[in-house]
Amino acid sequence: MGARTSTLNAKEDADRVYHRKRCVVRSAVHSENTSFLSARIQHFIDSGTLDQRRDDMRAKTAVVLGAQWGDEGKGKIVDVLSERFSAVARYAGGHNAGHTVIIGGQKFILQLIPCGVLRPTCKGIIGNGVVLDPIAFLKEVAKLRGLGVAVDAQLFVSNRAQVILPYHRMIELAAESAPGRKKIGTTSRGIGPAYEDKMARSGLRVVDLLRPELLKTHIEAACAEKNAIVKALFGTGTAPLDPARMFDEYAAAAEEVRPFVTDTGRVLNKILAAGGSVMFEGAQGTMLDIDHGTYPFVTSSSATAGGAATGTGVGPTAIGTVISVTKAYVTRVGEGPFPTEIKGAAGEELRARGNEYGAVTGRPRRCGWLDIPLLRYSNQVNGAEWLVVTKLDVLDTLAEIPICVGYEIDGKVTDEIPADVEGLEQVKPRYTTLKGWQEPTEGITEFEKLPRAAKEYLRFQERESGARIGMVSTGPDRDQTMVLDDFAAALDTIHA
Ligand code: IMP
Repeated sequence: MGARTSTLNAKEDADRVYHRKRCVVRSAVHSENTSFLSARIQHFIDSGTLDQRRDDMRAKTAVVLGAQWGDEGKGKIVDVLSERFSAVARYAGGHNAGHTVIIGGQKFILQLIPCGVLRPTCKGIIGNGVVLDPIAFLKEVAKLRGLGVAVDAQLFVSNRAQVILPYHRMIELAAESAPGRKKIGTTSRGIGPAYEDKMARSGLRVVDLLRPELLKTHIEAACAEKNAIVKALFGTGTAPLDPARMFDEYAAAAEEVRPFVTDTGRVLNKILAAGGSVMFEGAQGTMLDIDHGTYPFVTSSSATAGGAATGTGVGPTAIGTVISVTKAYVTRVGEGPFPTEIKGAAGEELRARGNEYGAVTGRPRRCGWLDIPLLRYSNQVNGAEWLVVTKLDVLDTLAEIPICVGYEIDGKVTDEIPADVEGLEQVKPRYTTLKGWQEPTEGITEFEKLPRAAKEYLRFQERESGARIGMVSTGPDRDQTMVLDDFAAALDTIHA
């Protein structure tokens, strides 16, 4: 990890003294009746007061998530921070995510497996909120084994996670290209249809994937239904799926997945009860969240901090700090509103400098200026305390850097983020322009060594967004990272 450096806005920091109320769980004790929870509460009683233990657990957890539309560079940040954590747990999404990590020049792209497994001391958990494509999972496992990562010892898959099957992809491809349907620009991995089945209570969970008779009946019934739906809705252009072949392939895959499967909620709670630490690794970003994002141009899961509790089985009272990752500018892949999008040559230049192409699909990312109203909204939804700013060096060549500081809709200035797509498309961003630094910042690991204008850019972002900057990334490698003092102190309470 890079060197520690000083606080950005000392006065604002002093104003933001943060008092955490201790959580009183005694009342809950009376209603606990399962043996596991009773044992856990007994453990708290044995090792200190209940509220103290709960505070200790909370101090040992952090959610790391994306502030905008994904691709903020979470992979690298999770990787850098993971040395302090006993486990890293994915809580939402599937192999639509693409987390790029570069260690000593070697590049790893992880889609489903949490970045934590790249540290030999860290467990990787695929939580119940994830949708798991067994074939994609096994490919990723094989790749990591080939690179010498001890996935077999470190990786656990929730028995309650939902399974993606080939008909989910078939439905998605048909829906995305059907006339009259809104094109979302999905990653075509079957993510949305798998979550649809989960909510319709007709999905297959990992625990059931492991029961061949149940798997067979499920596949037969689902194929009959999905083939009929695709034919009725989208015509005969898509070949029907063969349930017998599908069963053979997935029954074989299930046996390879089996050794990884467990009750991961139980594993995580045990780690915390024993004094260990857990990081919750978000996928996608806040504005792709099914509830809080730019609906319908969103993914189908809860990418925001709240999803960490439902997506892992760790209760919200045990979840501590929220760390939100943002680039020094903004990008988006796929369709949907993007108020600060830069059209034309300037956008293309930023794309080229930032190498802004999707890690999963290779699609060019749309680029835009930093959007403070959106960042404030994102911080509010997530309860974010800390910001991590990535790719600062991509702005190195610019003489001036516009930042959106307000929205104007129908001639009126507002700080409200419209809930509807039309409203967001009508937004006229109001910009302020900061001076660029036009000096290389790549690899700088101390705040004081940054050019003055770069420091101002970061201070401005911190002041306006309401969350404190804890880390800044100035290049793709683990070591090209600076950690600010207060954040480093907060992290010091967390040890794997
Ligand atoms: P889906 O998640 O494949 O259903 O795609 C829904 C939307 O989320 C599309 O706009 C995708 O481009 C976007 N999306 C999904 N995963 C990611 C990601 O990891 N990074 C950026 N965008 C994503």
